[in-house]
Amino acid sequence: MCPLTMRDFLAALEKKGLLRRIARPVDRTWEPAALAKWMYQALPEEKRFGMYFEKVKGSAIPLVTAALGANSAAYAAALGIEPESINDALVRACRNPIAPKVIDTAPCQEVVFTGKEVRLSRLPIPVWTPGKDKGPYITSNTVTRDCDTGIQNMGVYRTMVRDERSLTSNLAPGRQGYMNTLTWTDKGKAAPIAWAIAAPPAVHLAAVANLPYGADELGIAGGMMGTAVRVVKCRTVDLLVPADAEIIIEGEVHPGDTEMEGPFGEFAGYMGPVERRPVVRVTAITQRKNPIYYGYTSQMPPSESTVIQSLTHAGILLKTLRYDLGETAVSDIFVDLTFGGMLSHTIVAMKPGYPGHAKKVGRLVAEMSLVKRVTVVDEDVDIRDHTHVDWAMNCRYNPSRDTVLIDDAYFPVNVDPSVRSANSQDTMGSKIVCDATLKVGAGEFSLPPREIMMKALDLWKEIGLPEFDIPRRAKLRIDHS
Ligand SMILES: Cc1cc2nc3c(=O)[nH]c(=O)nc-3n(C[C@H](O)[C@H](O)[C@H](O)COP(=O)(O)O)c2cc1C
Repeated sequence: MCPLTMRDFLAALEKKGLLRRIARPVDRTWEPAALAKWMYQALPEEKRFGMYFEKVKGSAIPLVTAALGANSAAYAAALGIEPESINDALVRACRNPIAPKVIDTAPCQEVVFTGKEVRLSRLPIPVWTPGKDKGPYITSNTVTRDCDTGIQNMGVYRTMVRDERSLTSNLAPGRQGYMNTLTWTDKGKAAPIAWAIAAPPAVHLAAVANLPYGADELGIAGGMMGTAVRVVKCRTVDLLVPADAEIIIEGEVHPGDTEMEGPFGEFAGYMGPVERRPVVRVTAITQRKNPIYYGYTSQMPPSESTVIQSLTHAGILLKTLRYDLGETAVSDIFVDLTFGGMLSHTIVAMKPGYPGHAKKVGRLVAEMSLVKRVTVVDEDVDIRDHTHVDWAMNCRYNPSRDTVLIDDAYFPVNVDPSVRSANSQDTMGSKIVCDATLKVGAGEFSLPPREIMMKALDLWKEIGLPEFDIPRRAKLRIDHS
């Protein structure tokens, strides 16, 4: 069952041993973020866990991070499924979105602060790169709405706390939150904006999906949950927000009201540039009676941000290729969890149907995403095992024949130093597609046939040699031997 609230999800995660409570009081200006950095920098993926800081100095509200994106097991638990089913679940949700359901009385509005009662310092908002970030940052779901169509959007845009009642949000040009804001401010009107903090887990995972302009992530979240996301009208702005969220911050962006934002530690591993961004005047904070605060750990990869963005991005790409572009030869996609999701190395498994097919699919992936490196392999390669992908690169990829270079690619997120220019603001770069599928018959694998390997497995057990789970790489090879 997909957990319908953040609380249910955290309870399920704790039962699986994937959440740790930290009872000692912590200083939000450095301790939670620095501990999370150690977890991502030192622990292998399978040993990571969500962090629940029960006591944050100066705030009555606990802080949770890394729970949704500790690893793929945590992400899967947020959808109530097994890690192997993540792509299928995302494809199904995109093909069967469920529109949100509006309700009148919501848990996220049990307590309402407006006007001078609003104090952002009551929330345990951490400093994520202690010693380097300009201040505390909100890293959660941002809700905006197009003034003309009325369609809402959700994304995560880093947002700096300026003072008790104002924020500066990285609503960067080209991103949908920015486009929605312009539809109001260009007409001289204040744009409504809100943050949904510790919303139902599926809402968080859907928010980072790069969907076509006009598609509402709340519908995809409903598709993931198998039931409509309950939404409620904000108290001070005209937006619908997830009713079961723990905390909502409501505000407005006024025409021409901007300020320098940053520096902030970015997901590509370097400090992000300081740029002029819209200021948000906070009009209300609404919350449950005893709320939980959630903030994503990002910055140096791997991080929670890379895990979430990689997994969501892979599912959306797979759906687009198979069902929007008719590339049914594509069976699976993996976006490397060690980097920034939308920029990361992407590996496609497919059964090419004609010469050049794998290159075509690789080019499509590169063109319709921000991904810089795409590798295409046959279906007998485990795309989640980098040693297996490397094997395919070594024996099925001939660089001068199997490489496509795409020039003049624009990278709208200015966090990748490789595409920065010394003397201009442009972030023009290039992309590479490597076709590591077999082009000619290669003969049989140099492994004994399946029957012999399986008989040897019985012998292994009989002798009492150490037990193991058969890796997918080995299974695929043996099945093809
Ligand atoms: C912790 C975190 C912080 C992020 N910060 C930003 C950001 O500041 N600017 C941005 O453009 N994308 C950021 N992203 C990625 C976007 O949320 C993601 O690409 C999303 O799809 C954007 O929504 P949109 O396509 O509707 O604009 C962030 C993601 C995470 C998980």
